[in-house]
Amino acid sequence: MTLQLTPEQQNILDGNEGPARKLAMEILIKVGEGFGAQRLIPIQSVHLVLHAYKSAFDAGVEAAERIADMGGKFTVPTTIDPYGMDAEDWEGAKTPKEYAVMQKRLEAAVNRLGVIPVWTCTPYYGFNMPIFGENVAWSESSAVAFANTVLGARTNRQAAIVDICCGILGLAPEVGLHLAEERRGQVLIDLRMDRALQAWEYPALGFRLGQLLGNRIGVVVGMLGTPDTEELKALCAAAAASGSVALLHIVGITPEARTLEEAFGGNHPEETITFTKKDLLETREKMNTHKGKNVDIVALGCPHYTINEIISVQKLLNGRKISDNVALWIYANSAAIALAEKMGIRKDLESLGVTIRAQTCMIISPIAEWGFKVMMTDSGKCVHYGPMECGTEMVFGSVEECVESAVCGYVWTKEV
Ligand code: F3S
Repeated sequence: MTLQLTPEQQNILDGNEGPARKLAMEILIKVGEGFGAQRLIPIQSVHLVLHAYKSAFDAGVEAAERIADMGGKFTVPTTIDPYGMDAEDWEGAKTPKEYAVMQKRLEAAVNRLGVIPVWTCTPYYGFNMPIFGENVAWSESSAVAFANTVLGARTNRQAAIVDICCGILGLAPEVGLHLAEERRGQVLIDLRMDRALQAWEYPALGFRLGQLLGNRIGVVVGMLGTPDTEELKALCAAAAASGSVALLHIVGITPEARTLEEAFGGNHPEETITFTKKDLLETREKMNTHKGKNVDIVALGCPHYTINEIISVQKLLNGRKISDNVALWIYANSAAIALAEKMGIRKDLESLGVTIRAQTCMIISPIAEWGFKVMMTDSGKCVHYGPMECGTEMVFGSVEECVESAVCGYVWTKEV
């Protein structure tokens, strides 16, 4: 199928607006035609995943530099995923020098393209916040799931480099989740709980949903209470990691799923999955790949912790010091860290032995140099990627269990 271009788009393809825009157009046409798009549509913002040398490698760095050398410039607000190493203290974080050199080259290249250097996977907290029905081109899986599910914006899960092309042109192929008919629910998730979910149950639910749904669109009914945005971010991140969920309709929460009928949009559920407290407990058990009591690092902030979550850690610690046997690292973006500093929380946490890792995360920064064998986290996404990216066995628990474990120096679990 041939994609139909507007005269303005044809002009770009003809090279009349420079080589970078021509190249971006050629790539978007190839991608769009590959997915059966008939046209390219305007998008309001982009969020990039060409952000860390750990995943970009030399080829990604060189590609970004080449596009910048060609004069590429973003024409819509374009934010970016976490930095590939601690942005404040990469040497203190034991980042290999040669890695740091490449990370800085990548940073220089995306800066030349005009990125808004938020270096976070939660751009929707104040940096890049689409509204209901808005078309955007984001590529961070957890942010894509949040944008579609919670905000009701429309985005596919873009790939690295393709996202740069979208940012340069302010366009994306009109396929998949940009189309109303492709956003209709496919699988009914019947949540049978007699109470609102507890905080740890959101990532556990997301983790299991990702495994069960793959890339299908689930419609969740029976979610009692009003989850906060942090709980929804944890749910979306886990579902996007263990599966490739890009949109969940949570009836009563997702803007286009006010009712079950609206969520399915005329589709009949191809499957119904019932979820009980027992299923959540079994999922939690399976998320723990480490069955012993020892733990080396408690890693919080996947996706990046908000200021509310940092405050909750301070409250849970309540002046108690972290055990000498365990590290407790919190990953957050610059805005949350600045607020924690202003509020005196950072100083307090650091005096108790907590380390704030700036604008990066455990998964996309080098961590092997620390020799950690067991990592504990409250994140379903971190549980999924930890073994592969950090080389650790994983323990999953609530933030309370994570903090208590860091204080005790061994895995502490609460009766659930
Ligand atoms: Fe964000 Fe890193 Fe987790 S990018 S979602 S903190 S893996």
